[in-house]
Amino acid sequence: MDIASRPADPVTNPEAADAATPPQAPATIRREDYQPPAWLVPETALHFTLGLDRTQVRSALQVRRNPAGDGSETLRLNGDGLVPAGVWIDGEETAEWTIDGSDLLLTLPGDAHEIGIATDIAPSANTQLMGLYASNGMLCTQCEAEGFRRITFFPDRPDVLSVYSVRMAGDKAAFPVLLSNGNCTASGDNADGTHWAEWHDPWPKPSYLFALVAGDLVANHDSFTTMSGRQVDLNIWVRDGDQDRTHHAMQALKDSMKWDEEVFGREYDLDLFNIVAVADFNMGAMENKGLNVFNTRYILADPDTATDMDYDGIEGVVAHEYFHNWSGNRVTCRDWFQLSLKEGFTVLRDQLFSQDMGSAAVKRIEDVRVLRAAQFPEDSGPLAHPIRPDSYQEISNFYTATVYNKGAEVIRMMRTMVGAERFRKATDLYFDRHDGQAATCEDFVKAIEDGAGADLGQFRLWYAQAGTPRVEARLSHADGVATLTLRQTVPPTPGQADKQAMVIPLRLALFDRSTGQHRGEELVILHEPQAEFSFAGFATRPVLSLNRGFSAPVAIDADQSNADLVFLAAHDDDPFARYEAMQQLVVQHLIALVSGGTLCAADRDAGREAIGQALAAVIDDPALDDLMRGELMILPGETYLGEQLLVADPAVIHAEREGLKAWLGAQLKDRLVALHHRASSVPYSLAAAARGARKIKTQALVYLAAGVPDVAAQLAAQQFDDADNMTDRQGALMVLAGLDTPLREVKLAAFHQRYAGNALVIDKWFSLQAGSLHPRVVDHVRALSQHPDFTLSNPNRVRALYMAFTAPHAFHADGGVGYRMIADLILALDPINPQTAARFVASLGRWRRIEPVRSALMRAELERIAAAPGLSKDTFEQVSKSLG
Ligand code: ARG
Ligand code: ZN
Repeated sequence: MDIASRPADPVTNPEAADAATPPQAPATIRREDYQPPAWLVPETALHFTLGLDRTQVRSALQVRRNPAGDGSETLRLNGDGLVPAGVWIDGEETAEWTIDGSDLLLTLPGDAHEIGIATDIAPSANTQLMGLYASNGMLCTQCEAEGFRRITFFPDRPDVLSVYSVRMAGDKAAFPVLLSNGNCTASGDNADGTHWAEWHDPWPKPSYLFALVAGDLVANHDSFTTMSGRQVDLNIWVRDGDQDRTHHAMQALKDSMKWDEEVFGREYDLDLFNIVAVADFNMGAMENKGLNVFNTRYILADPDTATDMDYDGIEGVVAHEYFHNWSGNRVTCRDWFQLSLKEGFTVLRDQLFSQDMGSAAVKRIEDVRVLRAAQFPEDSGPLAHPIRPDSYQEISNFYTATVYNKGAEVIRMMRTMVGAERFRKATDLYFDRHDGQAATCEDFVKAIEDGAGADLGQFRLWYAQAGTPRVEARLSHADGVATLTLRQTVPPTPGQADKQAMVIPLRLALFDRSTGQHRGEELVILHEPQAEFSFAGFATRPVLSLNRGFSAPVAIDADQSNADLVFLAAHDDDPFARYEAMQQLVVQHLIALVSGGTLCAADRDAGREAIGQALAAVIDDPALDDLMRGELMILPGETYLGEQLLVADPAVIHAEREGLKAWLGAQLKDRLVALHHRASSVPYSLAAAARGARKIKTQALVYLAAGVPDVAAQLAAQQFDDADNMTDRQGALMVLAGLDTPLREVKLAAFHQRYAGNALVIDKWFSLQAGSLHPRVVDHVRALSQHPDFTLSNPNRVRALYMAFTAPHAFHADGGVGYRMIADLILALDPINPQTAARFVASLGRWRRIEPVRSALMRAELERIAAAPGLSKDTFEQVSKSLG
C-alpha cells in the first residue's frame, strides 16, 4: 500500500473552526433511524508522523459498496475539527470533495475504491482528551465513542469493521516505545534520530477500538498460557519508577484470563496483550484491541499509596477491560444505542469475577450500594433513560450508571431466572452466533432465549422502560397459610408517561420466628401489576425475607416492623438480606423523622434504641467476618435517603442522620473503642481478615467522631501515625478532616508533604477535604481550587476536588454557594473538557426533588449555564434536559 506521507501545512479552514462550536440545539440521533452503512471498509492503513505539537496522518481506506446499504454513491467520512490536507481516489489526488458539517463527502462511481486522506492534528492542543492527545510528554488515543474522527476522516460508527495496519514514525528519544493494536510486524531506526514501527491487527474492528501510544515507557513483563496452549506476552507500560506499583494489576490480568476460560469458555486471541497507564484520562479505562489504555488510578498500587478499595477497583477494571475482548470486541455493538450490549454484560462479568476472587457476599452488597447511590437517582431524575436509550444528542452522556450498572442487573436477572448452567449455554450460543459481528441488545436476548430455552418476551421491557420499579409487598397469615401480595408500579420518566408491568424475579424465604430457620428459598416471578403467592404450613406468621441477593433492581416497600427487621438483621442467612434489614431499619427510622408528621422525641428514642441494639449485635457477633461486619455497620447514604422522599430537605436529612450517628457513637463508645483496639492489632496483609480489620477500624472511628469527637481525634491521630498502609492512613485522615481539631491541619500537612508529587495520592488529599464533614468545607474547597496542585486540565484532579464536594452535605450549604461553585466549574471546564464538565450537571439536575428554597437556587444555576454562549453538545444536552 502506498501511504507515503506528503508534506502538508496545517490548514486553517473557517468551516472547520465553526464546526468546533455546535449550534445551541444539537441534532438528536434516534435509534429507530438506524440505516446500515452505504460503504464498508474491509481494510485500513494508517501512517503517522508523530509529534506532540503536530502529527501528520495519512490513511488508505479500501472501501466497498455495502450490498445491504442504500446503494448511495456518496461516501460519508466523519470528521471532528479536521481539515483534509489532501484527498486521493484510487491514487489520484482529487479536489472533488465537499464538507458537510464536519464530515467529508466523496462521490464514488464504482463498487470498490481506495481512498487516501491526509490530515494534520495537534495533540498537545487537544484538551478534550478524545482522539490523539498528549499526556506528560507521551502520545495516546481515546477513540470510544467518537474520537477516531478527530484523528482522520472515517465512517466512525461501530458497524464498520476493518482490518488495521499501522505505521508510525517519530523521534526515538521522545518516543522510544511505539504501540498499536495487534502485533508488531516490523520496526527500525532512521539515520535522523527517528525510528518507526509497523503494527497489524488481524481481527476486524470498529474505529472506536483503534489505539496508538508513543512515549518513554517501561513495562512490567509477564506471560500467560491459554487453555489451548497459546503463549501470550503481557506488558503493563508505565512511566519509569512506577513499575513496582503494577504487580496487583498484572495478577488481576492473569486471574481474569484464567477465569474467563473457566467460567465463560473465552480464550484470548492474540500473542500479545498490552496495557498502558495514562495520567490524563476521561474515564476509567478503554478496551482497545490488544492495547488497553488505563487511567493510572486503575493500574498503580502498593500498600503505601493505595487503599483496599483501590486494590479492588484495579482488579475489577483490569478484568472489565480484559473481558471486553469477547463481550465488546469479538462481538461489538451495531450502533451506540446498543452500548449496554457490551457494557452491561461486561459489568456483570467483572462483578461475577470479583465475587469469585474475594468475598461474594460483600461484593454483592457493594455493587448494590453503588447502584442505589448512582443509578437510582439517575432513574428518578430528568436524565432517566432506558438501558437501551431511544435517542441522544451526545453519546458520551450515555456512559451512565444506567447503561452500565442497571444493564448488568438486567442480565443478572436473566441468569437468575434460567440458572447459571443454562445461562452459560446461552452465552456460548451468543458468542458463537455473533462472533465477528456488530450486534444488538435484541440479538443478545434472542440468544439467551434460544440457548437457555426461555421466553423473555415480556422481560424485554427492561430494555425499553426507564425508571426503578417499585414493589409493594404485604404478607398476611390465616389458617396456617402465609399469603404474599405483590403489587408493582413503574414510575413515569421523561418521554415515558405510561408504563407496562415488568417481569420481576424475587428470591424469597419465610422464616419461622421461633427456630430462626426457613425451609428453603423460593424464586417468585411477578409478571402482573399485582399477584398473590400462598405458602402453606405456617402455624405462626413467618418473617419475610424478600429480594434476597438483590435478585431484582427494584425498590421494595414491605412495611416491616422493627421487630421483623431486627430479627432478619440478626438471623438472615442471605448476607445481602441481612445487610438490607439493617439498612431498612435505619431508613424507616430516619424517613419517619425527616418527613415530619406525628413523631415525638420518644419515637426517636425508641427507634435509636432498636438500631443501637442491632448495631451492638453486629459488633459482637463472633460468627461474622470483619469484612461483612464492616458492611453491616455502614449507614444508608444521604442521597439514598433523599430518594425515599418525593421532595427532600438535604439539611434535615443530614442533621438527623448525623444525630443518629452521634447517638450511636456515644452509646456504643466502649464497644467501638474495643473494636478499634482489637482491629488495630491485626498486621497488614491483603488477606480478607486483615482487610476486614482495616474496614471496621475506620468504621468505628466514623461513629466515634460523631459521638465523642475528642476520643475519636486522639484515636484517629494514633491510627494515622501508626499506619503502615494507605487504608489506615486515609481512613484516619478522613475522620480528622471532618473534625474541628488542631490535629486536622497537622496531619493534612504531613500527608501532603509525604506524598508530594504522587498524583494519585494528592487526589486523595483533595477528596478527603472536599468530602469532609467539616462545617467550613465550602471555604476549604474554594481555597483548594487555588492550590498550586490544582488544575482543570487533569480529570482525576477535577473529580477529586469537585465530585467529592457534590456529596450532599456541603454542596447543599445554605444560600446556594455550593451550587454556584459547581456551575462555575462547569462553565470553566466546558471549553477545556466538555465530557468531564457535563458529568457535573446531574448534581444540579436533582432540583425537582429538593425543598423549594434550594430547588430555586439549583434551577437558577442551571439556567445560568444554559444561557452561556458556545456550550458544548455534552453540557448543552444535560443542562437542557435537566431544565426541561
Ligand atoms: N468502553 C470503556 C469501558 O467501559 C469506556 C469508554 C468510555 N469513553 C467515553 N468517551 N465515554 O471500559
Ligand atoms: Zn466497559
